[in-house]
Amino acid sequence: MSRSKEQLYAGVDVGTTKIATVVARVASSGIEVVALGHAPSIGMRKGLVVDAAALTDAVRSSVSEAAAALGKRLPPAYVSVTGAHVASVNATASITRKAGEKELRAFTEGDVDEVLASSVPEMDPSSVLLHAVPRRFAIDGHSIVHDPVGLCGEWLAVETHVVSGDRRAVAELAGVVGDAGVKVRGMVLQHLASASAVLSADELERGVVLADVGGGTTDIAVFEDRAVRHTSAIGVGGEQFTSDLAVGLGISPEVAERVKLALGPAETHGTEARLEVGGVSEGGTQLVSRRRAHELLRDRSLELVRLILHRVGEAGTDRMPACGLVLTGGASKLSALAEAAAEYARYPVRVAAPSSALALPAELDDASLSSAVGLVLWAVEHQRARKAVAPVREWPRRLASALRLRRPQGASA
Ligand SMILES: Nc1ncnc2c1ncn2[C@@H]1O[C@H](COP(=O)(O)OP(=O)(O)OP(=O)(O)O)[C@@H](O)[C@H]1O
Ligand SMILES: [Mg+2]
Repeated sequence: MSRSKEQLYAGVDVGTTKIATVVARVASSGIEVVALGHAPSIGMRKGLVVDAAALTDAVRSSVSEAAAALGKRLPPAYVSVTGAHVASVNATASITRKAGEKELRAFTEGDVDEVLASSVPEMDPSSVLLHAVPRRFAIDGHSIVHDPVGLCGEWLAVETHVVSGDRRAVAELAGVVGDAGVKVRGMVLQHLASASAVLSADELERGVVLADVGGGTTDIAVFEDRAVRHTSAIGVGGEQFTSDLAVGLGISPEVAERVKLALGPAETHGTEARLEVGGVSEGGTQLVSRRRAHELLRDRSLELVRLILHRVGEAGTDRMPACGLVLTGGASKLSALAEAAAEYARYPVRVAAPSSALALPAELDDASLSSAVGLVLWAVEHQRARKAVAPVREWPRRLASALRLRRPQGASA
């Protein structure tokens, strides 16, 4: 197929810190990223649009960069959503289908749609349904399956993870992306997008906690037995680490941000007592106590890990899932965070970027791009589905085929 006609998939991740646009195509070897756009975010705070005009400009700038690389307009895109306005609950429902006199009747896609839709609780008019993710199905009260289509039975029950958002907040975000010149194909919870970019099939199967630590929020998702059990967002991200450094060291937020980035993995255990930070004023530098900076980052890290574990407790799991904690998002690059998580050390901890699960170009080997890459995977899954996909027919039911689209680990990009 000529390049101009081939099907393209797009995601626009509108974060507190940056706006990342990713466009991909499906090649015979797997998903191939064909264009990227990146711009600083202005006008977004903890998942809420606070300055629509500024944010529209920022989104336009990220999208234009990707469109320039593509040589044409962006295809309709999936957009990420998060924040305190998003609410999640686990629900159940069932339907009965009488079998024919002579033969057993197999459940159809229509039956699955119907039982999923009936599991969605009645919603306040100020809320909008984002996802009704099937967790598992039971047929005739016994067999537990992830996909009942084609299986025979009379009674189909489902457990669903239902995610809703504030109608106005979601509409504002979609409006901004539309005003920036991109048709919105759907809105996707950031945590679910990030999960599909960084978690392995084994982690999803055996259970894992994902924390996407961004600039303004930490998005948490708990998975068990290939199903999502809990999703929530904490209003703490990299910005709080920066403001702790600014207050604690008596420096400006701009210098504090530079201190934070300078104390990356290579600097963590540096021997110099003081860290010299450049660019304070024209040509000026400032010295800050490395030990104090580490203490401040460590304290905030321990607090954040405590909050994450508290949410895991609230999810109703009596112990940490077997595969422990996977950290992603820009602030997961803070080595203090993984070190703090490891202090609670009875579970594994890893920091993940999209390339750790998928064979992707080196430029995507960045933990802050997990949800942007996840949006593209979502697009591939849903646009390639046989029929139009309503919000109720969603991941991870289709995750198995998403995983098949991935290249084997270690394959050349
Ligand atoms: N190398 C690094 N070391 C420490 N922190 C970093 C590093 N790189 C980025 N960060 C921090 O990561 C944060 C941004 O992360 P990310 O790009 O995932 O946020 P976002 O998606 O825009 O925000 P959100 O998801 O909260 O809306 C910033 O606070 C930034 O300072
Ligand atoms: Mg983010």
